[in-house]
Amino acid sequence: MKTIQVKVNGYVEKLTIAPNRTLLDVLREDLALTGAKRGCEAGECGACTVIVNGRPVNSCMILAVEMDGAEILTIEGLSRGTQLDDMQQSFIDEFALQCGYCTPGMILMGKALLAENLQPTEETVREYIGGNLCRCTGYENIIKAILAVAAARKG
Ligand code: FES
Ligand code: FES
Repeated sequence: MKTIQVKVNGYVEKLTIAPNRTLLDVLREDLALTGAKRGCEAGECGACTVIVNGRPVNSCMILAVEMDGAEILTIEGLSRGTQLDDMQQSFIDEFALQCGYCTPGMILMGKALLAENLQPTEETVREYIGGNLCRCTGYENIIKAILAVAAARKG
């Protein structure tokens, strides 16, 4: 067992964990943050995406013990009480939710993209979310939702 300290959604957490557990396991099972979804567990679907130190990662592919000192943002960290983040609201407004399994990862990818590039083209959005699979094949509205946030932020 190893003890690490991480900041998750702004809260400091001290965790004592076995070295073989993934970040996804620890978020879901120890911290009850079930927004990151367990899909392929092989780094191929993006359902488990979270943001670590500002960059989107597949949490199923990272050992939690490697996270000592990291800042982690999960989908649960986006809203403020009942006030949704603009990307969350845009997914609702643009009907970008179907079964919702891929949605947390898609929303976090959208946020990470706009943090890097405030005015992405449609092509850039498609490429950026290329590693996030939607089983419902609803990509059009997901892309629209991300582009709508970019347009709104531009004002
Ligand atoms: S569950 Fe992590 S990439 Fe699919
Ligand atoms: S909305 Fe169902 S997997 Fe994307």
